Amino acid sequence: MAIDMDKLNAFVGRFVTDLGAAVHTGMVVIGERLGLYRALASGPMNSAELAAKTGTDERYVREWLSSQAAGGYITYDPATHKFCLTEEQAFTLAQEDSPAYLPGAFQLALGALAAVPRIADSFRSGAGMGWHEHDDGVFHGCEKFFRPGYAANLTTSWIPSLHGVKEKLESGARVADVGCGLGASTILMAKAFPKSRFFGFDYHDKSIAAARQAARREGLADRVAFDVAPAKSFPGSGYDFVAVFDCLHDMGDPVGAARHVRTSLNDTGTWMIVEPFAHDQLKDNLNPVGRVYYSFSTLLCTPCSRSQEVGLCLGAQAGEARMREVVTSAGFSRFRRATETPFNIVYEARP
Ligand SMILES: C[S@@+](CC[C@H](N)C(=O)[O-])C[C@H]1O[C@@H](n2cnc3c(N)ncnc32)[C@H](O)[C@@H]1O
Repeated sequence: MAIDMDKLNAFVGRFVTDLGAAVHTGMVVIGERLGLYRALASGPMNSAELAAKTGTDERYVREWLSSQAAGGYITYDPATHKFCLTEEQAFTLAQEDSPAYLPGAFQLALGALAAVPRIADSFRSGAGMGWHEHDDGVFHGCEKFFRPGYAANLTTSWIPSLHGVKEKLESGARVADVGCGLGASTILMAKAFPKSRFFGFDYHDKSIAAARQAARREGLADRVAFDVAPAKSFPGSGYDFVAVFDCLHDMGDPVGAARHVRTSLNDTGTWMIVEPFAHDQLKDNLNPVGRVYYSFSTLLCTPCSRSQEVGLCLGAQAGEARMREVVTSAGFSRFRRATETPFNIVYEARP
């Protein structure tokens, strides 16, 4: 066997980066949970000052700060022995309303990784694992990870990219958000379009309970209702607009769900399908974003679909051609890619 030492060294170098990133997941979750990033955003501090400000133990905080500085998430000044956040670090780590807030992604990853022993068994048995069976970090991390992207794009870019939908929502429309999780997307739409009525559905009761709480907190109870319902049988008809955010591929029977969406829409209605960004061919998804999605898909999306009837298992990287098949086979005659971001594709389907 002839080992190319340059290639070996490059691969081991990558391994060190990846291993650091893997354990760093826990560091970011701790930093967010204890308010360490937020506290540090107020100005340079040493470990004792940060510990005093956050009510934490100085020795632990010092070790955490060092891990963060080594990873480039926090900046260290050897002259003063103080740590600080640059504007960019604060924007992504300390401001929960920023469009690039990152800690939710790590909370989601940590929660998803808790399922590794069970999913490893599933590789042999083929068994599924429902979304509802995961660690709570999955639900809350998912909401926290996706909300900033929705806040940045949904009402200003995604909805305006659809034919005539923004105008309908402005004048008053009936909207269903199916597989709404904790309701981040429903709440954003309800805030932007006060004349419309919004119905959020998800099969997971705990997510719906949290979504209801969020709607009450935001003072939106007059125009938003959340209910537990599966995508194939959510109640109501004559909807002007139905949306699904990052969940069609999680469903066991996405064609059945699409058929139900078709019957729930009025004849001039629109279905918006937001899916993870993906190309049609595996070879074109072999990049950092594809790696994230295929990994989450192995732990969350594919087992979720497998746990439900039909168990189609589209996976999080299904791609446009596969989505078109699913949607048009359910009776929609028009389907197009309306817009995209580096992380999402937005499709428009109409009867
Ligand atoms: C990745 S999460 C996305 C949640 C939410 N749409 C968001 O963007 O934050 C997938 C959601 O789909 C829901 N889900 C999966 N299968 C479902 C089904 N058959 N009917 C309704 N909801 C379903 C899960 O409970 C979960 O809340």
